Amino acid sequence: IRVAVIGGGQSCEHEVSLASAASVAAALDRTSYDVVRLTIDPHGTWLDSGNRPIGLAGAAHVLRSCEVVLPVVHGPRGEDGTLAALCELAGLPYVGSGVGAGAIAMDKWVTKLVAEAVGLATAPGVVLTAATAPTYAWSHPVVVKPVAAGSSHGVTLVDRPELLDQALDAALALDHRVLVEDVMTGREVDIAVLARPDGSRLVSPALEIVAEGLFDHDTKYGGHADFRVPASLTDAEAKGIEDAAVAVFDALGCRGVARVDFFLTAAGPVLNEVNTMPGFTAESQVPKMYAAGGLSYPDLLDLLVRDALA
Ligand code: DAL
Ligand code: MG
Repeated sequence: IRVAVIGGGQSCEHEVSLASAASVAAALDRTSYDVVRLTIDPHGTWLDSGNRPIGLAGAAHVLRSCEVVLPVVHGPRGEDGTLAALCELAGLPYVGSGVGAGAIAMDKWVTKLVAEAVGLATAPGVVLTAATAPTYAWSHPVVVKPVAAGSSHGVTLVDRPELLDQALDAALALDHRVLVEDVMTGREVDIAVLARPDGSRLVSPALEIVAEGLFDHDTKYGGHADFRVPASLTDAEAKGIEDAAVAVFDALGCRGVARVDFFLTAAGPVLNEVNTMPGFTAESQVPKMYAAGGLSYPDLLDLLVRDALA
């Protein structure tokens, strides 16, 4: 089977995606797949497997020579439904969520509204723009983040009022809307949901992130976070998180696999976000979670590709 693995992209998660895509391509290459690499550079130029610019028309030609597409691009102009749209228009099967689910999950504000509509708790928050940000009155610790970004880019914990302006500027540099949310106190627990073509859901064991303070970009990619997988949870805690993850996955209409991130608070799970194309190196959370459940990294990728073709 000839599979196109797309990496890179124009968002601030370009480098993270390159790592995910390289790892995915190498694992598929070692199994029975014929892997074709395509990379989108930070300016949006499509590059072939030799990193030569081929343009969108050239990329479409390569994609049409493949049976299935695995878009491993994180963040806006990739994970937000745009690559799904390209595959839809080209009539190509692809791994992961469709246009609508990708777009909604990329939007942390709309995701919150959908989650609350199906009864899940989320952190209380408000959405601001450059025009409304100056009217925001800080009264308690908050997390300021772009509505659509990832890997904690532009995210600041504002526990003193004098940090607010800089935090808003940092988030507004990445998106025209920012989310200001109450700080949740609780354990950070992630879980993955994978949709099978028969409608069943394969839920991974949960993973706990043990980090000092905020699980921010430096902690994520500097290697100082400790993953505990499976997370040590009571049966009731595990069930609460599984049910909540499947509920939001289904409400958003996700396909393929998504990682659903929670804060486990004294009052129960609070949804943080849904990642429709989560970090996908062999060391990333989703592969580690499924591996803890007995599904190896190559087998997980094989399942995703085969399901996309089913
Ligand atoms: N946004 C990063 C890639 C993640 O969710 O893993
Ligand atoms: Mg994310």
